Amino acid sequence: MSKADLQKETVLHYDDFPFDFLTAEDERNIEQWQPAPFMRFANQYLDADTQVAEIGCGPGRATLFMAKRDIPVVAIDVSAGSLLLARRRAPQCQFVRASNLDLPLRDASFAAVVSDGVIHHTPDAWRSFCELARVLIPGGMLYLGVYRRRRYYYYVYTWLGRPIRWLERRGWGNLLIHLTLLPLYYLVHKVKSRGKRTWHGAKNFFYDYIITPQATFHTREEIELWGQRNALELVEYDEHVGNVHAFVFRKSAEAEWK
Ligand SMILES: C[S@@+](CC[C@H](N)C(=O)[O-])C[C@H]1O[C@@H](n2cnc3c(N)ncnc32)[C@H](O)[C@@H]1O
Repeated sequence: MSKADLQKETVLHYDDFPFDFLTAEDERNIEQWQPAPFMRFANQYLDADTQVAEIGCGPGRATLFMAKRDIPVVAIDVSAGSLLLARRRAPQCQFVRASNLDLPLRDASFAAVVSDGVIHHTPDAWRSFCELARVLIPGGMLYLGVYRRRRYYYYVYTWLGRPIRWLERRGWGNLLIHLTLLPLYYLVHKVKSRGKRTWHGAKNFFYDYIITPQATFHTREEIELWGQRNALELVEYDEHVGNVHAFVFRKSAEAEWK
């Protein structure tokens, strides 16, 4: 499949199944849904004077959190369906529908960039990464969450997920999934969340983790090297944030962008 077709499939996927699982109560307690390294990042580097670009905001889990802290955010996503939900949650932010492969933002224009769980869903994670670095000002900070290569989820998505994705594209296979795997998945989520997870939320998790058309997996060494090539210095690293690992980079103060 060409990169353009893969991107189109990803857009359709997240329009139909935005990564949305927050209940009204979760929205009220949105801090609870921020990963620990992101909370540290926000506490240390973000305030009401920090211009933030959130790239791949999805339905606004982090957007809402930053909006509640009066942090000025420009939130971008390729999926209109996801943006609709995010805008409803954080109407004071600015929203733009665009791809992170070609951001409609000027070079060196944001003091902080946040991109959690996004670049691994694009047809070219390296290019998406370079775009994040491009829009940062010298001395600016990047928070990045990306799927870990050395983790069981890589095998689940790649090997177990392949036949499930094949089934999902067929009417009878889709029905089978809805009658068997999805209820099971929902049940597990319901138990783990002590009854809080909704069907809608569990289904969107399932579609994000198993059915999403593109997921790539990256090692720490690879992402650090990408950082070096973009004048980004790694200042914090967290290996365990569910299926992703989290990186905090600072862009070199001497970096020049033409
Ligand atoms: C797993 S969701 C993560 C959403 C949000 N960052 C969060 O953590 O809740 C992945 C998001 O990436 C977006 N996405 C995928 N490819 C993209 C691209 N090329 N440019 C911008 N956003 C993209 C999807 O539309 C989806 O909303």
